[in-house]
Amino acid sequence: MLTSSEILSLVETRKTLPAYRNYQIVRDAVLKMREPPLEAVPETARPSAYWTEELSRFLYMFDASPLIVDQLRHHSYHITGIQVYAYRSGAAAAALFAEKLEALRGLDERGLFVPEARDMGGFGHEIDGDLVNIDTLKYYESMIAMDRGGALARFRDPSARRVAMEIGSGWGGLAHVFKALFPNTTYICVDLAELFLFSATYLMTRFPDAKVAFLGGDGAGLDGDWREYDFIFVPNTLVQDIPDIPLDLMLNTVSFQEMTTTQVTEYVALADRLKAPLLYSLNRKRSVYSKELTDVHEIIGEKYDVNIIPMLDVPYTKMFDSLRKKERSSKKKEDKARTKPKTPSEAVSVDVKPEKEDMSYKHVVGWRKAGTR
Ligand SMILES: C[S@@+](CC[C@H](N)C(=O)[O-])C[C@H]1O[C@@H](n2cnc3c(N)ncnc32)[C@H](O)[C@@H]1O
Repeated sequence: MLTSSEILSLVETRKTLPAYRNYQIVRDAVLKMREPPLEAVPETARPSAYWTEELSRFLYMFDASPLIVDQLRHHSYHITGIQVYAYRSGAAAAALFAEKLEALRGLDERGLFVPEARDMGGFGHEIDGDLVNIDTLKYYESMIAMDRGGALARFRDPSARRVAMEIGSGWGGLAHVFKALFPNTTYICVDLAELFLFSATYLMTRFPDAKVAFLGGDGAGLDGDWREYDFIFVPNTLVQDIPDIPLDLMLNTVSFQEMTTTQVTEYVALADRLKAPLLYSLNRKRSVYSKELTDVHEIIGEKYDVNIIPMLDVPYTKMFDSLRKKERSSKKKEDKARTKPKTPSEAVSVDVKPEKEDMSYKHVVGWRKAGTR
C-alpha cells in the first residue's frame, strides 16, 4: 500500500508523463470543436437522446486528474460497458474467456489477435500472458470477420498507404488493433467530439510517434494530404465538410444500431461518396434503445451488397456457457412438456407463436454496388 506522500508524489510525476500531456492537447482540441453552438450544427449531427444522457455522465472527463488519465481504460465503461471489477484476479470467468479465445483462434488464418494493452489502466483476464476482456474479443472477432469477408486484403500491401474511417470509434479500441496490424494506414475516427477525450488520448499515448490531426480542433485544414497522418479525429458535426478523399474501408461496430435512420443513411451515403469499396458493420438491426431507427442492414443495402459473415454461435457479448445453459433449459422444457399429461383440449390445440424479429448481431461486409464503384 502506498503512503500518503507517495500518492502525492505519484500525482506530480503522472502530470509530467506523455499520457497526461496528450490528454491536455486533446481537451483543448475537443473544447474548440464544441465551440459552435448546437443550433449551428445540422440537426442530424446532434447527439441522440440516448447519447446526450451518456455524455452528461462523463462530463468529469473535461477535468480529469493525472491519475484518472493514467487509468483511462477504467473509465471507458461509459462507452462499451465493461468494468474492471469483473476482471479481478482469480475470477472464475477467465476459463470461459480462454475457451472463446481458442474458438476465435480456430477461425483466424492470419494472426489477427491484439491483446488489451497493459498501460493506461488496461485490464482483463490473464490468458497465456495476455490481457483479454470482452472488448478484446469483440475487436478480434471483427478483424477475423473482416478478413473472411475480403475487407482486409487491400491493407496487406505494405507499400500502399490506405485510408480507413471508423464511425463511432468509442475509446479507440478497434483503431488501436487496426493500426497495430496495419501501420501503413491513415485511420480516421468520426465520433461525438467528447469521445476523443478517450480515443485520442489513448491512441496518441499508445502510438507516441503517430502524426495526428483534429478537424475543427487545431485549425488543420481539409485540403492537405490526409495520407500523411496516422490518426485524424473528425467530430460528427463536421462530416459534411469532408472532401472527396478516396477511402478503402468504412467500419462501424455497435454504433449504427444506436443512431437514427437519417444518421445511418448519411454515413452510408458518405462511404459511397468517398467511394469506399468496402463497409464493415457489426450491429443489430437496431438497438433496444433505438426508437428512431428502421434497420441498419437495410440501410447499408441501399448502397452496398450486404454479405453476412458467419462467425461463432454466440454473440460477442456472451461466452459459450450461455449456449450450454440455453440447451439445458430447452431440453428441460421439452422433457416437461413430454411427460405432462395433456387435457383433451390441449392435445388438439396448435401453438402458433408470432415469428420473432431477428435482433441478433451480424457481421456484415458490404461491397459497393456494381456500377457505382
Ligand atoms: C457503444 S459505443 C461503441 C464504440 C466502438 N465502436 C466499440 O465498439 O468499441 C457507440 C459509439 O457511437 C458513437 N456515436 C453515437 N452517435 C454518433 C453519431 N451521430 N456519429 C458518430 N458517432 C456516434 C458514440 O459516441 C460511441 O463512441
